[in-house]
Amino acid sequence: MSGPLVVVNFKTYQTAHGASAEELAVTMAGIESGAKLVAAVSAFDLESVVTAAPDLEVWCQHLDPVGFGSNTGWLHPSTAIERGASGTLINHAEHKVDLEHVAMLIEQLPDGFSICACAEDMEEAGALAALGPTFVAVEPPELIGGNISVTEADPIVVSETADAVKSVSENVSVLCGAGVKTGKDVSEAIRLGVSGVLLASGVTKSENPIEALRDLVSEI
Ligand code: G3P
Repeated sequence: MSGPLVVVNFKTYQTAHGASAEELAVTMAGIESGAKLVAAVSAFDLESVVTAAPDLEVWCQHLDPVGFGSNTGWLHPSTAIERGASGTLINHAEHKVDLEHVAMLIEQLPDGFSICACAEDMEEAGALAALGPTFVAVEPPELIGGNISVTEADPIVVSETADAVKSVSENVSVLCGAGVKTGKDVSEAIRLGVSGVLLASGVTKSENPIEALRDLVSEI
């Protein structure tokens, strides 16, 4: 991997949907850093974000393990790939699925497509790691959207998840998230043994997203 990963989940924040999603993606693409920035966007915004920021890596927030056919309302991986997605989150705390859903998705997606399976705790992280995603991101749900970074509120869950996942598979990288907002939070995450962070409100609710992004990557 090319440097720490900083994944910004646009969720359905008003500041990160439609034209604002394109703007934020262009801003992200302009940030110079040793980190790799990734935007996880709404399926509706996928194509326009990819078009607006062609050099930025863009992920979906969720996909379903379905093929072409009778699957009303489901998010079809092949269509996402055709529209420019190069990865996806799955099992986010705000969009839980069962392990079988994750396993089938991993089986269906081609090599090189990043799959970041989200976990609430170390146990879930271990179970997801056994399925062989690209990343497991540990995010204690009670800290999501808050002002205290997981790296400060619960450093143990970060370091123990990094160790637990490593003991299941050396091929799965670990991210952490929830409350991550500053460069100090990111450097602390790396110090605790993970490969990057997954965050949202630190950027999407910031009055100055450029400054927030610059700060996030400032200690890398
Ligand atoms: O997916 C990232 C997320 O759940 C963390 O959100 O707002 O705490 O950075 P936030």
